[in-house]
Amino acid sequence: MSAVIDRRADNDRGRHLLGIGGMDRSDLEEILDLTDTFAEIGRRPIPKVPALRGRTVATVFFEGSTRTRMSFEVAARRLSADTVAFNAGTSSLSKGESIRDTVEVIAAYGADLLVVRHSMAGTAHRVAGWTDLSVVNAGDGCHEHPTQALLDCYTLRERRGSLDGMRIAIIGDVRHSRVARSNVLAFTALGAEVVLVAPATLLPPAIEGWPVTVVHELDPILGDLDAVYLLRIQGERITEGLIPSLREYASDFCLTAGRVARMRSDALVLHPGPTNRGVEISAEAATDQRSVILDQVVNGVSVRMAVLFLLLGSGRQLGAVDAGDSVEGDR
Ligand code: NCD
Repeated sequence: MSAVIDRRADNDRGRHLLGIGGMDRSDLEEILDLTDTFAEIGRRPIPKVPALRGRTVATVFFEGSTRTRMSFEVAARRLSADTVAFNAGTSSLSKGESIRDTVEVIAAYGADLLVVRHSMAGTAHRVAGWTDLSVVNAGDGCHEHPTQALLDCYTLRERRGSLDGMRIAIIGDVRHSRVARSNVLAFTALGAEVVLVAPATLLPPAIEGWPVTVVHELDPILGDLDAVYLLRIQGERITEGLIPSLREYASDFCLTAGRVARMRSDALVLHPGPTNRGVEISAEAATDQRSVILDQVVNGVSVRMAVLFLLLGSGRQLGAVDAGDSVEGDR
């Protein structure tokens, strides 16, 4: 990094958001409280403030994304930061360039903060160890996706005032879901009870110690839930036949119109997207009045504004950082 012109103030060095692990209730609440401010800015006729003028946010995605990437870009622009995007598909990665060299090139273009997504668990931690820039983990393999969990908590809190005492079912491919890992930590830290609902083959091998209960059938508990959180079957991470067929999976776990009708009238339906209609959720359930899936999309921008502002504009560290540590659950 010595060849890089560092135009940032010294007190801006290396603050990161790498995971919900290591954050406590007050850390989470601070971000959610600040998100209210940025949600208000988003409702203005001109939803833009100068808070991060002169700063550059780079989205560094080695894996596909629609919502996460676009919402980080919108969030950065609403804070008047510049944005620069790295696309794995059209980059020199195909010529054999390493992740580390790629990151150093992006840093040399003057980025202040890297938003990193990669299919390998621990990548954002490693990047944080290589650079002086701030790093936000936008998904590392099956490990964590902290801003998704924050926007989900914000969405639940917006509707319910608090997660305290809520009973939330996380349904589906928990084993390969970084969203599930981050959300189990965040929901329980904020006082909710989490039930994992999945066939045994789609649960992580080492689930002891998770602060959850586990059931293998959805129908018996549907009427007792305050919220259901559907997960996509992560086909890109499944290397062996873990479910007999998508049709059989759907018959047991898909949130259909019939199943939604058996939920409480004030229960909430969440999904991080992208949805596979007819597999984990039906079109009717996704658009039911209990669904807050589009609220999640809108809130994603406000939460990410709060995170960018806290890291680049306020001099705060978000959560524990252990750059370079190896992380369980690779790929
Ligand atoms: C999730 C992800 O990429 O981990 N999507 C997202 O960020 N909105 C979940 C998924 O891909 O199923």
